[in-house]
Amino acid sequence: MPNTQPIPVVLAGATGKTGSAVGKAVWDAHDMELAAAVARRHRGVSLGLLWGIPELTVTLTADLTEIDRDYAVLVDFTEPESAYPRLVEAISRGWDIVVGTTGFSRREREHLAELVESRQVGAAVIANFSLGAWVAERLAIEASRYLGQVEVIEGHHQTKKDRPSGTAKRMAELLADAMGRDVDSIPVHSIRLPGMVAHQAVVFGSSGQLITIRHDVHDRSAYAAGVLAAIRQVHTFRGRVVNDLGEILDPGRLRPDGP
Ligand SMILES: NC(=O)c1ccc[n+]([C@@H]2O[C@H](COP(=O)([O-])OP(=O)(O)OC[C@H]3O[C@@H](n4cnc5c(N)ncnc54)[C@H](OP(=O)(O)O)[C@@H]3O)[C@@H](O)[C@H]2O)c1
Repeated sequence: MPNTQPIPVVLAGATGKTGSAVGKAVWDAHDMELAAAVARRHRGVSLGLLWGIPELTVTLTADLTEIDRDYAVLVDFTEPESAYPRLVEAISRGWDIVVGTTGFSRREREHLAELVESRQVGAAVIANFSLGAWVAERLAIEASRYLGQVEVIEGHHQTKKDRPSGTAKRMAELLADAMGRDVDSIPVHSIRLPGMVAHQAVVFGSSGQLITIRHDVHDRSAYAAGVLAAIRQVHTFRGRVVNDLGEILDPGRLRPDGP
């Protein structure tokens, strides 16, 4: 892809809570083109009509088969059952993928990684695109050096399909790695209630004291900067799947020795 051309983005889940928030950021980005959008119920409807942007003329399609593009970055915020075959198709077309959808099985994740490697496309599969969630991960890993008793509590809106959240599963995995423990030894609690957006607390307990590392998303615009950064960089991840937002937002900080 020549750098001077806008990056074509195909957005799956464009009518959803998160897809519409990050999609509007893509629309506003001068170096990106919102090339196509996918969602079932509004198939054939103008996305601009739904988003209240008259100059946006993209019409929603139900799947990728109706999209005739040699190259695009597929951005997916849908649900795992339909996302998995969609991602397989995008990779087989040679498209790069930016995946926010959570809830894939381990086998699906492994298979996607194999396809990404064999097709030599780039992939960013990030459980949480918000900077705050990434900072909370770093703080929790640091705290785990000193405090051994920890539990994770996550809360989301009642319509969220997967439980525990991808963010909480990743936090438990990171803590388990840092502490040299089995991931199942770190309890994860889930709350699903109206009024919630996305919330997580990592609670460390010690004799007579508690430390809580808490992150709250009140507005899904929190995910936009991470998604845009991933779209801009994903083509450089040839053949591999990046799971750590830190590698996308500030590579130098996580790789102090350089590339
Ligand atoms: N990584 C992150 O930072 C992050 C942040 C927030 C959310 N998420 C994840 O993103 C996903 C979406 O969350 P959300 O809260 O935005 O959900 P949502 O509001 O329910 O939106 C889901 C979107 O996917 C579309 N969709 C559902 N099934 C589909 C299918 N079979 N084919 C095509 N489109 C389909 C829906 O439209 P139709 O129903 O009309 O098809 C809708 O546009 C979830 O997996 C969530 O965990 C990730």
